[in-house]
Amino acid sequence: MLRFLQWLIARERLLRLASPLFGRFNPFLPQHRRDPHATWRALRSTEPVYRSRALGAWLLTRYDDVLHVLRDPNFTTDRSDVPLMKLVSRLTRKDPEFSAMIERNLLTLDGSDHTRLRGLVSKAFTPRRVERLRPQLEGIVDELLDRAAEASQMELIRDLAHPLPVIAIAELLGIPSADRARFRAWSADLVQLLDPLQGRGGSASLRRATHELYAYFRPLLAERRARPRDDLLSAMIAAEENGESLSETDLLALSGLLLVAGHETTANLIGNAVLALLRNPSERKRLQDDPDLIASAVEEFLRYDPPIQLTDRAVREDCEIGGRRIRKGQLVVVVLAAANRDPDRFPDPDRLDLGRTDHHHLAFGQGGHFCLGSQLAKLETEIAIGTLLRRFPDFFGNTEPTAWRRSMIIRGPEAVPLCLVPTC
Ligand code: HEM
Repeated sequence: MLRFLQWLIARERLLRLASPLFGRFNPFLPQHRRDPHATWRALRSTEPVYRSRALGAWLLTRYDDVLHVLRDPNFTTDRSDVPLMKLVSRLTRKDPEFSAMIERNLLTLDGSDHTRLRGLVSKAFTPRRVERLRPQLEGIVDELLDRAAEASQMELIRDLAHPLPVIAIAELLGIPSADRARFRAWSADLVQLLDPLQGRGGSASLRRATHELYAYFRPLLAERRARPRDDLLSAMIAAEENGESLSETDLLALSGLLLVAGHETTANLIGNAVLALLRNPSERKRLQDDPDLIASAVEEFLRYDPPIQLTDRAVREDCEIGGRRIRKGQLVVVVLAAANRDPDRFPDPDRLDLGRTDHHHLAFGQGGHFCLGSQLAKLETEIAIGTLLRRFPDFFGNTEPTAWRRSMIIRGPEAVPLCLVPTC
């Protein structure tokens, strides 16, 4: 089924023909991929609480509504009552490891189960541990850019944006550097956890990657139990709260989730940020003239073009939003990217302003599921963009990438070729 949907999405012409069925929102149109903000703008100003029959979901595009849903426990990440998830649950029941990865990870758990798991991980995944990575990350970015410097050109996504987050997570967890390539391959399949319509091989490839990842981590966990080191894996094993600690299944599912949640997201943020700079030369100059602006610039990149455009919640009890009745069991999609450009929240929202001081964007979500890795993602992006601008102040490239990711959820360019010197 999943494989069929992935196949269908690759056949764009069919989806274009089916456009009337989608009403005001067809996420599969090439123009939506090129400029999703035009779609969000139109929806927000005409029907901010929109029922998409084709997707079987409500779409919310106003900042206040999105914030409300993310904070209100009436909207849950436990989608086990949603018909599609019931089907997934039935199909995966015979494979407990796989079903744990899909149904019992931080992103899908809610209530006390989520609070317990999140509390334990947060004891290990601390801001101090992330900040300590800074010198390693600076070294990694320099190394990746050294290779590009030799050729005077690079393909940003392949050469920097994709490798950096995988290496960062591997370093954080304490994975030997020789195994990083395997991590990248698993991540390419596990991305379906974030967006089921991504990936190439349907649920079979997701299942295979899950088992391979678990087979890899099991002996590593045993080794760290016997001889703890100063890494996240050892810290997660040691984490304890109210006499409870993380089970082996929790640790395995978490390792996979951290890999996938931290990879595609950060890679696409870096891609979107460089495109934003190419398209806004005066803001680029502003950052080059004042490198201390980098932290604020990264917040603005997150607001302006977030790599995760939307997320969803299931409704526990009937309720009303914007005068529309929303029923128990229905799915509500909150469009983070639309909220980030709501003119009622951010003045002149379509303008990239790297000095903007209001950083209350929703790119990392909000409430109990607020992104666990936000600090790491910001640190990586600050170092990547800051170093690129410092080492290659004249870099240039096309303002339109060769292609955009084919995804409703993940926003980012497939490839961004850059010339690093004026004469390449
Ligand atoms: C620019 C980069 C990133 C963006 C835009 C991003 C975005 C998000 C968003 C929107 C959520 C909430 C989803 C929801 O409420 O349904 C989330 C949750 C999460 N993120 Fe990130 N993320 C990024 C990077 C990272 C990194 C680097 C890691 C870890 C290495 C990470 C780990 C997680 C985890 C574990 C959760 C689940 C938290 C929970 O449910 O309690 N993310 N992220």
